[in-house]
Amino acid sequence: MYIVDRSLQFFRGFLLSYGPSNLKKRFWDKEYSEEKWSFAYDTVGDCVYGHLEKHVANGNILDIGCGSGNTATELAPIYKTYLGVDISEAALAKAKKRSEECGRQTKNSFECGDFLTYVPPGKYEVILFRESMYHVPLGKVKSTLDRFSANLKDGGVFVVRLFASSGNSLDAKDKHRPAAMLNIMETEFDVLEKRRYEEPGHPTVIVFRPKARLRY
Ligand SMILES: C[S@@+](CC[C@H](N)C(=O)[O-])C[C@H]1O[C@@H](n2cnc3c(N)ncnc32)[C@H](O)[C@@H]1O
Repeated sequence: MYIVDRSLQFFRGFLLSYGPSNLKKRFWDKEYSEEKWSFAYDTVGDCVYGHLEKHVANGNILDIGCGSGNTATELAPIYKTYLGVDISEAALAKAKKRSEECGRQTKNSFECGDFLTYVPPGKYEVILFRESMYHVPLGKVKSTLDRFSANLKDGGVFVVRLFASSGNSLDAKDKHRPAAMLNIMETEFDVLEKRRYEEPGHPTVIVFRPKARLRY
């Protein structure tokens, strides 16, 4: 049973990173339509918000893999515009509704797209990957970040939040893929902040920008 479970888990993870867009969209639409993520609809006070508020400075934020609107509605409204991108129309419908309910319909906008090919319409102070970087194939993490670097304003930053830890203690061993992703960010970019939080699961938040000689 263990081998079957692990194989299914591996196949699911593989499909969600490397599968065709239409299959990924169907998977995520089903997840959100069946409310499988409702346990995570309230993340007020999350550790990522302090980092975002520090860097957005009344500017524009692009949220890649934005989900059902947590960041769009919980981040302090100190930003000028927020654009959330997601592959799931079902997630975006919830995000739009929640934005209207809290009066942010003019500040917040949403677009449906696969972030592996999506081309943003502007430049941003902050580009966020919150719990969505796992779905970028490891071999494409650097090229994906390089591509989105063209959409950072001067002095703009990437903010990535992910779970790398495999256990409940702060010094638990890291899981291979997220650790390899963090390693790419640390070696290929200029890191401004990196912190592992003492919240359940020990999320890591890393803030970085293109190396000075490569900035657009
Ligand atoms: C774990 S959820 C995180 C949602 C949100 N960022 C949050 O923290 O509340 C991952 C999100 O990434 C989106 N996603 C996964 N693969 C994607 C892709 N290739 N392009 C765009 N969005 C994607 C999913 O639809 C889902 O909303």
